[in-house]
Amino acid sequence: MRENPVKIAVLVSGGGTNLQALIDAQNSGIIKSGKIELVIANNAGAYALERAAKAGIKTATVLKKELGSAEAFEQKIKDLLTENGIEIIVLAGFMAILSENFTRDYPKRIINVHPALIPSFCGKGFYGLHVHEAALAYGVKVTGATVHFVNEIPDGGEIIMQKAVAIRENDTPETLQKRVMRLAEWKILPLSVEKVCAKIISE
Ligand code: GAR
Repeated sequence: MRENPVKIAVLVSGGGTNLQALIDAQNSGIIKSGKIELVIANNAGAYALERAAKAGIKTATVLKKELGSAEAFEQKIKDLLTENGIEIIVLAGFMAILSENFTRDYPKRIINVHPALIPSFCGKGFYGLHVHEAALAYGVKVTGATVHFVNEIPDGGEIIMQKAVAIRENDTPETLQKRVMRLAEWKILPLSVEKVCAKIISE
């Protein structure tokens, strides 16, 4: 069995609270079979980049606008992953959909956190606050978060972990988002990353 931890890249777009949960889990030993080696943002202003820098993690910014096409954008990400010997990719609030051309190169090696109980409120157009707006508009009484492998179908890959969160009568999309993050996402994302890394190590 190999000794060295699995090399992880985290892809982000915004605030990076899920990235922070991963960094904290690495520091507390919840994640011990993997190590975050690289954080890639598709948005130069992402606060997640500051969190990564504070934790001493290498960062990169890849902008579709600058690169001119979706193909060039994905190729640049692939190049960074290869250069850094990355073995698993975690999408932690990454607000771009990766094409089949990208996902087929990393079968069961890309993990995403989605802020609902898949197959509810998922797929194209369901991201960030919109997911919680949709759950409240529908009137469901329970929502939650899902961590899953990423394949060519948006939010369609194999489920790794889920956690339910009760909806309260006076919830707004914002209060619900915060509670789903705190009670579900920040817990099951690090646990799932450890589970996948431990499996890779044992193989
Ligand atoms: C999180 O709620 C995450 O589940 C969601 O965006 C938020 C990012 O927050 N992701 C998606 O909707 C992807 N489809 P963060 O930047 O603070 O981690």
